[in-house]
Amino acid sequence: MASGIDDEVTLRANREGFLKYQLRPRRLVDVSKVDMSTEILGVKYDSPIIIAPSGGHKAYHPDGEPAVARAAKTGDHLQILSTNASTSIKDVIAARGKPIWYQLYATNKFEVAKHHVESAEQQGAIAVAVTVDSSGGRNQETLFRLQKSDAQLRGLP
Ligand SMILES: Cc1cc2nc3c(=O)[nH]c(=O)nc-3n(C[C@H](O)[C@H](O)[C@H](O)COP(=O)(O)O)c2cc1C
Repeated sequence: MASGIDDEVTLRANREGFLKYQLRPRRLVDVSKVDMSTEILGVKYDSPIIIAPSGGHKAYHPDGEPAVARAAKTGDHLQILSTNASTSIKDVIAARGKPIWYQLYATNKFEVAKHHVESAEQQGAIAVAVTVDSSGGRNQETLFRLQKSDAQLRGLP
C-alpha cells in the first residue's frame, strides 16, 4: 500500500504537492453548518472526497472492501471499487448503503470488458471508471524488489 510505480518520483511529488496547500483559519465566521455537498453524475454526496480504486483490500485487513465501504458511508464519500477487489460489488454496495462506481481494467478482449461491465451493472454499480495506464504493463520496482523477500507476494504477477 505504501509503494508507487517506477522509482516513485510521482509518489514523492504528490506528497510535496500537498505540502503547498495551507489551511487558512477564518475567525469569527459561523462554521456550525458547513456544506461540502456535491453532485456527481446525478447523485448527491455530502462529501466531495472520492475513494480511488485500489486492489485486494483483504491483503491489508481481513475486513477488506466492506470496511472501506462503511467508512465511505460514514462520510457519504463516493467509492470506486477495483476490478481486483477481494469482495463482490453487491456486497460492497450493501455495506456502503448506496451505489458505487466500478473500476475496469480492460484487456484486449472486448468480451471480457463487456462481461465485467454487465456484471457490475447487474450488481448495482452506476458508473464505470476505465483505468488506461496499465494496458502496456507497469514498472513496479518496489514490488519486484520486495516480493523476493515476502512469501505472500511470491507468485503474484
Ligand atoms: C496499492 C495500490 C493499489 C491500487 N490499485 C488500483 C486498482 O486496482 N485499480 C486502479 O484503477 N487504480 C489502482 N491504484 C491507483 C489509485 O487508484 C490512484 O489512482 C493512485 O494511487 C494515484 O492516486 P493520487 O491521484 O491520489 O496520487 C492503486 C494504487 C495503489 C497505491
